[in-house]
Amino acid sequence: MSERERWATRIGLILAAAGNAVGLGNFLRFPVQAAQNGGGAFMIPYFIAFLLLGIPLMWVEWAIGRYGGKYNHGHLPGMFDVIWRNPIAKYIGVLGIFVSFIIMVYYCYIESWTLAFSIFSITKTYFGLTDFDKMTNFLKSYQGVEKGFFNSILPAYIFLLITLAANFYFLKRGISKGIELIAKVGMPLLIILAIALAIRVITLGTPDPVNFPERNVENGFAFIWNPNFSALADAKIWLAAAGQIFFTLSVGMGTLEAYASYLREKDDIALNGLSTASTNEFVEVVLGGSIAIPVAVAFFGIPATLEIAKGGAFNLGFVSMPLIFQKLPFGEFFGCIWFFLLFIAGITSSVAMVQPLIAFLKEQFKISHNKATFIVFIGTFISTHLVLFFLQYGFLDELDYWAGTFFLVVIGFLEVVIFAWIWGMDKGWEEINKGADIKVPKFFYPVIKYITPLYILSILLYWGITDAIPTLLMKNIPPEQIPYRWGARLFMLTVFAILCFLVYKAWKLNKPRYEE
Ligand code: PHE
Repeated sequence: MSERERWATRIGLILAAAGNAVGLGNFLRFPVQAAQNGGGAFMIPYFIAFLLLGIPLMWVEWAIGRYGGKYNHGHLPGMFDVIWRNPIAKYIGVLGIFVSFIIMVYYCYIESWTLAFSIFSITKTYFGLTDFDKMTNFLKSYQGVEKGFFNSILPAYIFLLITLAANFYFLKRGISKGIELIAKVGMPLLIILAIALAIRVITLGTPDPVNFPERNVENGFAFIWNPNFSALADAKIWLAAAGQIFFTLSVGMGTLEAYASYLREKDDIALNGLSTASTNEFVEVVLGGSIAIPVAVAFFGIPATLEIAKGGAFNLGFVSMPLIFQKLPFGEFFGCIWFFLLFIAGITSSVAMVQPLIAFLKEQFKISHNKATFIVFIGTFISTHLVLFFLQYGFLDELDYWAGTFFLVVIGFLEVVIFAWIWGMDKGWEEINKGADIKVPKFFYPVIKYITPLYILSILLYWGITDAIPTLLMKNIPPEQIPYRWGARLFMLTVFAILCFLVYKAWKLNKPRYEE
């Protein structure tokens, strides 16, 4: 058997894993979630979820991944198979290729907007569009949703092609020469750009002290950081906080396991996992939390910022921010930095998303790396057209709801149960501690065994009681979107069925034999 590819350097691995976790979620999704869920009130359940779900799952996933890599598996079907040795395990694992592929299909499109907007900033393309309606039209006409500034979807299409090409260029170069390279250059750059923007925001003061003294950065920070304990009784906030932790840390997706599978058996995972999680939280809470929301409060005030946040992640990032850049000296420059920062955050995440699928095709069907990458490229390319053309009918939102939110939680649950209860917590604990460069606090043993699964189970139960029926039946969806959203579900089912079939075929072709 050919030698498995490995990470070249430890710093490269940590940056790649951090690049996987740090993404659009940190700069676009987090501020909006925090604002929508009561600002300061959100942060308490958020940190609790980080401690009781995020960190434990991080270690569980690195452990499963490194163990799977020993059997030359870079994907969850293989990993669950080797851990559980039950014929059903590999089909459960299919979820771990499925969700990340589906996320890729829409995430790359959003990523391509960030690249386009960084160019629109530096060339001042949107300068002069100084109110919400005009700027919204700029975005919507770019997306082909309405006519106006742009009269065709061609620019969006071209940026999408460039983005896909860039992603698959790095994927084709493989783990150490592609993914590690982009992370080593991209992550330090990202942190520098984010710090520069955060400093710009912090030093803003009160943009219009005569007319709007209450609109200032201090109030922006106070909005996120003053805890409001009364909101903690609302289960929805707990749900949103847990969802954000899953999405931002990239847990429940199968991608961290894929990255960990390129470790050697005795490499550390305890410290690596913790560094990944802490880097992500630093970038999310300290940097992500210091840009979009405080600046929006400083320029528009708290009530308007809440309104903007209700309009979703794109309004804040792609409409409000450009409006603010137009008011800042050297705004074209800061705008370019903001969107380019998003692009780097995006690409170091999106290259992770199809890694499990590429590994699966390569390892189970014995095809070359180039061929596997090409097949996945074609699959992604064809599928993104659905998102591109049906954007206004909620196609993207439907994919994001199921693949980017719901199933992450389901995978997280199945994973921790398979790890702690089927494989056994003692074995699992030993695996986490093998080669460890830090001492993992004993506290996490009972957490992984009892608290994490129960926590996730209660989230799922709460969802089942309050949201399951209306969501499944699309109760609150505008009628014109319903057929397209069913289309999105059909698309996901088809992808899932194809992947199950491939797993079936793969195991039929050559059944993996595991000798200890
Ligand atoms: N964690 C990434 C973010 O915050 C998103 C992501 C999803 C990364 C799926 C990898 C896989 O944006």
